[in-house]
Amino acid sequence: MSFLVAGNWKMHGLSDQLGELVAIAQYARTAAGTNDVLICVPATLIARAVAVSGGYLAIGGEDCAVEAAGAFTGDISAEMLKDAGADAVIVGHSERRRHHHETDAVVAEKAAAAGRAGLAAIICIGETQVQRDAGTALQDCAAQLEASLPADRRLLAGSAIAYEPLWAIGTGRTPNAQDVTEIHRHLRQLLTRLMGKDGDRIRILYGGSITPADVRTILILPEVGGVLVGGASLRAQDFNGIIRAAETVNLANVETEMSVPTPVPAHSRTTP
Ligand code: PGA
Repeated sequence: MSFLVAGNWKMHGLSDQLGELVAIAQYARTAAGTNDVLICVPATLIARAVAVSGGYLAIGGEDCAVEAAGAFTGDISAEMLKDAGADAVIVGHSERRRHHHETDAVVAEKAAAAGRAGLAAIICIGETQVQRDAGTALQDCAAQLEASLPADRRLLAGSAIAYEPLWAIGTGRTPNAQDVTEIHRHLRQLLTRLMGKDGDRIRILYGGSITPADVRTILILPEVGGVLVGGASLRAQDFNGIIRAAETVNLANVETEMSVPTPVPAHSRTTP
C-alpha cells in the first residue's frame, strides 16, 4: 500500500507561507508520485492552498464542527471545508482535545461529519507520558480509538488513523521502533475486529517529531501507513525530504514484492 504523507501546519501560516506550499507542490509533481501527499492548513488558507497546489497535493482542514450549519459562531463545518476545496480534515488532534476539551465522543461525531461531507478524516489518538510510564499505552490507545470512531463505519471510507504519542509531539522525542510496531499492530487488530476487511484498508499513520532524518526508520515498520508531520511540514525543504524518503521506502517495497520468485507452472518446466 502506498503511504500517506500528511502535514499539519497547526496555527501557522499567513499568505506568505503559501510559497512553501508551491515548492512542495512542485516537488510532488516531479517526484515518483507513488504516495499520497496531504497538507492540512488553517481554514483561512484552504481556498488559496487549493489554488496554488495545482492538484499535485491534497489539501485538508485541521478541525471541523459536528453540525453542518447553524448558530455556532466561529465554528467551521466539514461541508464548508469541502466547499472551500478541502479533501480531508484532521479530527481529535491532541491539541484540540486538550485546549478545547474534546472528548472521544465528540471526535467520533466530527469524524462522522467529515464522512458525511465527503472528506477523509485523519483521526488522531495517542497516549500521555503518564500512560506510557504506567505501561498502559496499548490499552489506552485502543480504547481511545474505538471510542473515537463513528458508529456508522461506512463514513470512514478513505480515512486514516494517526497514532501520535502526546509526549512525542513537538518535543524532538520519538518512541522506539518496538513501541511503534506494538501499537500499530494492536490498532490494526482492533480495526480488523471492528470492521473486517474495510479495517485493513485504513492507513495507520505515525506522528510526533518526524524529521527528514528519521522518517525512514518509522516508515519501514509494519503497519505504518504514513506519517503526520507538524513542525517539519512548514518548510518545503524539510517536507520534501520526507516525501523523498517515503518514495524511496515505497519503491523498495515494490521491488521486494516483484523480486519474490514466482513458481514456474509444472506444465511449462522443461525436462532436462
Ligand atoms: P510535530 O507535530 O511533528 O511538530 O511533533 C505532529 C502533530 O502534532 O501532528
